[in-house]
Formats: sequence, C-alpha cells, structure tokens
Amino acid sequence: MSQGILRYLGSTMGRKYIMAISGLVWTLFVLTHMLGNLLIFASADAYNFYAYKLTSNPLIYVAEAALVVFIGMHAATGIGLRMRNSRTKPNLYAVTPKSAKGASVTSKSMIWSGTITLVFLILHLITFKFGAYYETTVDGILMRDIHKLVVECFSQTGYVVWYGVCLVLVGMHLYHGVASSFQTLGINHPKFNNAIKGFGWAYSIVVALGFLAVPFYVFFVKG
Ligand code: HEM
Repeated sequence: MSQGILRYLGSTMGRKYIMAISGLVWTLFVLTHMLGNLLIFASADAYNFYAYKLTSNPLIYVAEAALVVFIGMHAATGIGLRMRNSRTKPNLYAVTPKSAKGASVTSKSMIWSGTITLVFLILHLITFKFGAYYETTVDGILMRDIHKLVVECFSQTGYVVWYGVCLVLVGMHLYHGVASSFQTLGINHPKFNNAIKGFGWAYSIVVALGFLAVPFYVFFVKG
C-alpha cells in the first residue's frame, strides 16, 4: 500500500470512511441475521435447518473472518476518533457536523451504545455460537439443535431483559450509524436528507423489532 493511501487512512476523513464502510457491512449483516432468526416463527426444524445450512457452508469461515476484521476496524477506529475529538474538540461527535448543542441523544451516545453492543456481541457468541450443543435430526440429517438452546435461554427473565435493553441500544446505534455513514460517503443533499433520516429510522426500527420479536415470542408465547 502506498504511503499516500496509508496517510489518508490515518487522517480524520480516512478514519470516517473506515467507520462508514465497516459499519455498513455490519448493518447489512444484522438485517440478514434478523431475517434468518424470524424462521423461529415457522418451526423448530426450519430454524435448525437454516442454521445448519449456514454453518455447514465452507464460505462461512470467510464471512466470519470478514465480520471480525470489520468489527475490529470499526471499534478501534471509533475509539481512536473519539479520543482524538475529546482532546481537540471536547464536545463534538466525530461523524456529525452539528454542534454538540444540536447533536441528538443517539449521536452523543454512540461511544456508549457501541461499547455495550460490543459487550453484548461477545456474550451473545459465548451463549449461542459456543454455548450448549444439543443435537436433532431434520430430514434424516443430524445437526445442532440451536432452537432448543434459544428457547432455553429466552425462557429466562434475565436473558429477555438483557436482550431487550441491548437491542434498543443496537437500534439507536444503527439509526445514527446509517445516517452518518451516508453523510461520510457523500450521500447527502438538502433535498434527500429527510428521506435518508427516515430510511435510517425505518431500518433500525425494523431490525430492532425483528430481533426483539424472538425473545418476547419465546418468553410470552412458547415459554
Ligand atoms: C434476539 C436476537 C438474536 C438472536 C435470537 C440471535 C441468535 C443467534 C444464534 C442462534 C446464533 C448461533 C448460530 C449458529 O452458530 O448456529 C447467532 C450467532 C451470531 N449472532 Fe446472533 N442473534 C440475535 C441478535 C444478534 C445481534 C443484534 C447481533 C449483532 C450485533 C448478532 C450477531 C451474531 C453473530 C456475529 C453471530 C455469529 C455468526 C457466525 O459466526 O456464524 N446477533 N445468533
């Protein structure tokens, strides 16, 4: 990589681009993950079969590695920008052009909603990806019974409350993230700014409610 590119990536603008691109990759991932999770409303077999198809595809390792790289870049760059900002402009959020006075709650809380989302993600992977391994057979194929683990967890009040709080924060982080990524990438025009804001709202609400539906369904309907 030429020195010029490295210098650009280290600049405030370059870092904002890294934040925007890595954030948008995760924004797309959470939508697909949320949609896959909705299969719990179809049947236990449909949910397990979907997870089996996904995890038995060799490309999953490439996708997982990419997700780890992007979240690492996103978190490290976000913390770096935040630290630089608090040294130089104590009250400005990195990707928002508004002054601190006009900055929204979601904008000012990005560092906290982001940090809690990261903690949530690590615990989430420990619980589900690396958690208890039950087995079941669907269409004659032996596979992991991930549905059983999901139901087991979300039958407990603690998990439902924790997921409820974290998914609201994920939604807030997404809302501001989508809007500021578009701004960083130059997708902003006075004519479309309201539409972009509306899109950010709709996207984050759909994703958060879609995810929230799973623990609430298990707890209140299945449990
Ligand atoms: C109620 C909400 C959610 C449910 C029920 C859920 C369910 C699951 C389950 C069952 C797995 C394990 C899949 C397997 O290995 O077979 C998983 C993995 C994962 N989840 Fe979630 N998830 C939720 C929310 C989230 C959110 C909000 C994020 C991101 C912020 C997320 C990110 C991930 C990631 C990165 C993996 C690992 C994927 C892989 O490596 O293959 N999940 N989730």
